[in-house]
Amino acid sequence: MGKNHASTQDILRVEHVNNYYTKGGLGILKKAEANQVLHDVSLTIGNDEFFGLVGESGCGKSTLANAILGLIPFEGTIEVAGHAHKTTDRKEFTRHIQAVFQDPLSALNPRRTIGETMREPLMAHGIGSRQEQDRKIAKMLETVGLDASYADRYPKELSGGQRQRVCIGAALILEPDLIIADEAISALDVSVGSQILNLFNTIDVERDFSMLFISHNLNVVYYLCDRIAVMYKGYIVEQGTADAVYNHPGHPYTRLLLSAIPDMQEENDREKELLEKFKAPVAGACAYYHRCPYASDHCHKKPDLVNIAGRGEPEHLVRCWMPTLFDPAGVKEPGMEGGKV
Ligand SMILES: Nc1ncnc2c1ncn2[C@@H]1O[C@H](COP(=O)(O)OP(=O)(O)OP(=O)(O)O)[C@@H](O)[C@H]1O
Ligand SMILES: [Mg+2]
Repeated sequence: MGKNHASTQDILRVEHVNNYYTKGGLGILKKAEANQVLHDVSLTIGNDEFFGLVGESGCGKSTLANAILGLIPFEGTIEVAGHAHKTTDRKEFTRHIQAVFQDPLSALNPRRTIGETMREPLMAHGIGSRQEQDRKIAKMLETVGLDASYADRYPKELSGGQRQRVCIGAALILEPDLIIADEAISALDVSVGSQILNLFNTIDVERDFSMLFISHNLNVVYYLCDRIAVMYKGYIVEQGTADAVYNHPGHPYTRLLLSAIPDMQEENDREKELLEKFKAPVAGACAYYHRCPYASDHCHKKPDLVNIAGRGEPEHLVRCWMPTLFDPAGVKEPGMEGGKV
């Protein structure tokens, strides 16, 4: 639970996941005319571990979340608490995994009271008598920082931050193993967003769940998570402990994210515009080639993830031909053995 308390048991296993959007919609059949969004994505989340996924808008974060939630087709393996989508019925599956999204208003039914919304999953799974459900709901409202009397209110009577607290409570009420929070604080203003972030931190201490926390903000993810993966154009380009990725980034894109805080998106757009003017794309090159200030002929071939952690240290993966960017002697040539994942 919380930073640095992860154990070794996996709650989520994502292995070699690819996903394709076809022109006519979703599917994995018409690959030839499809736009591939996720490229060979693999990650695991341990019991009670908070795992952060960062990357700019459009890189594929929500697509990965939707694949994990079983909402879109994908190639590869995804298991939640040992259950694969394909072999587990949907209702059973929702006991293990719940999601909190960016916009709490659209996630809540305007015609239902908060109490009714929170009762719904308990009813669907036949949990408790009505009185027991009432007690559970009151307790959960308290856990997320709301008075039990909020159960009788409607969503429109709540502030944005309060609505998001309700969504978090509704996600937690079935005591799932994994919560996916997709930009759960991005729509809130800064002070309300940090209150929600603190709430995640607090309930983490009291409860027993893992989380995939998706954000475009590396600072936020570093604050909350044990481990971090950085995604660029559907590739995981770096992955490791929060400390390793934040304080010792190995990929030029991670460095860009760090240098561009707080206004990453604007900086990214500016850099992208500049670099795309000068560097022509190369077919089959590293996905980051056209933006990378270090790109060389090596990078015409796609790099694999390599482990740059020292012996005995936790895994720190970087998808780059120059894992030791600031140690020119450590530059690896394409085709060199060692460290490939
Ligand atoms: N249903 C869809 N059909 C076709 N393309 C889609 C669909 N949903 C997403 N995409 C495309 O997939 C890519 C990844 O989108 P995704 O929503 O996963 O990005 P994201 O990282 O969550 O971005 P954001 O930070 O803006 O939420 C984008 O290029 C997007 O246009
Ligand atoms: Mg998204």
